Amino acid sequence: MTALPQERRVVTAIPGPKSQELQARRTAAVAQGVGSVLPVFTARAGGGIIEDVDGNRLIDFGSGIAVTSVGASAEAVVRRASAQLADFTHTCFMVTPYEGYVAVAEALAELTPGDHAKKSALFNSGAEAVENAVKIARAYTKRQAVVVFDHGYHGRTNLTMALTAKNMPYKHGFGPFAPEVYRVPVAYGYRWPTGAENAGPEAAAQAVDQMSKQVGADNIAAIIIEPVLGEGGFIEPAKGFLPAIRRFAADHGIVFVADEIQSGFCRTGQWFACEDEDIVPGPDHDGEGHRGRSAAGRRHRPRGDHGRRARGRPGRHLRRQPGGLRGRARRHRDDEGAGPQRPGAQRHRGVMKCPPDRHGGEVRRHRRRPRAAAR
Ligand SMILES: Cc1ncc(COP(=O)(O)O)c(C=O)c1O
Repeated sequence: MTALPQERRVVTAIPGPKSQELQARRTAAVAQGVGSVLPVFTARAGGGIIEDVDGNRLIDFGSGIAVTSVGASAEAVVRRASAQLADFTHTCFMVTPYEGYVAVAEALAELTPGDHAKKSALFNSGAEAVENAVKIARAYTKRQAVVVFDHGYHGRTNLTMALTAKNMPYKHGFGPFAPEVYRVPVAYGYRWPTGAENAGPEAAAQAVDQMSKQVGADNIAAIIIEPVLGEGGFIEPAKGFLPAIRRFAADHGIVFVADEIQSGFCRTGQWFACEDEDIVPGPDHDGEGHRGRSAAGRRHRPRGDHGRRARGRPGRHLRRQPGGLRGRARRHRDDEGAGPQRPGAQRHRGVMKCPPDRHGGEVRRHRRRPRAAAR
């Protein structure tokens, strides 16, 4: 494998002649609904550089929509993926299991927030992970309603389109959508009418009021939120908002789902964006919620057969019952620490940071707080 020089180099007009040829083939053969941002075709990529088919080297600010956090074709990723392909390409874990799936679940149990016992299910896309979070929450709570937030994005399947806020361009012309989805305000500091400093508590109060009155807390199976909103504009909810919503979920036996598909591993300076405010997603892990106590907690966490019903192939993980960063993270880094971030980042989409003044938030603290209990 030859390392790609980490430099920008433009040798043709953009797009160059080879990219234009490919564009013509693409127009004839690829469905129009699949859009692309750039008009150039990739020949290879390494680190933070993409080389196109005409030999231009471009700085990769897109990173596959925030996926290649450790850089393109990171040596450790290539080595492990190649070794796996040589061993076997596919058996389907639901037919013939293999150790890698188990090892990923074990690693997630260590790396995700919370120090309770945890289990994971792996899925092949973000939308599938979110859909399965809804399935699990509904089966577990025996409730139907799902609450999501203004500006939220959760995917392109029918249910996740219903969960997504923006009609244009994500949903236009594709309805009708799945029922029992309710949208409430998010603490968007930059646009909050009474100022960024009030956004956290005021938005939380509005969201809680709407959930209580318009949906009914006892009808809500899951609250799904991106701890940093991605497609909606890289919005960091104002401080205090997430803990208030987490507390409401715990108090009412509602499963709190953190959709970190785009905030990604390590992109906020910690493994998970929700760690910034010490959020532990899932049901009420510690029995601290008042009415949620009997419905959730260490000895009553969701079990059942959603693992068998929830079919899928690994690639995206469903953050159902998260846990904490321990020596394992350091071991990962020491073993395979290629690129700018820890290697786990490769599996998970990421988020870009917002400037401190734009959204009334603050630049992420690149430090780890002592982990407190959820909410
Ligand atoms: C927050 C969030 N959730 C879910 C998804 C859906 O992921 P996928 O495109 O892998 O289905 C995305 C995709 O960008 C996302 O940003």
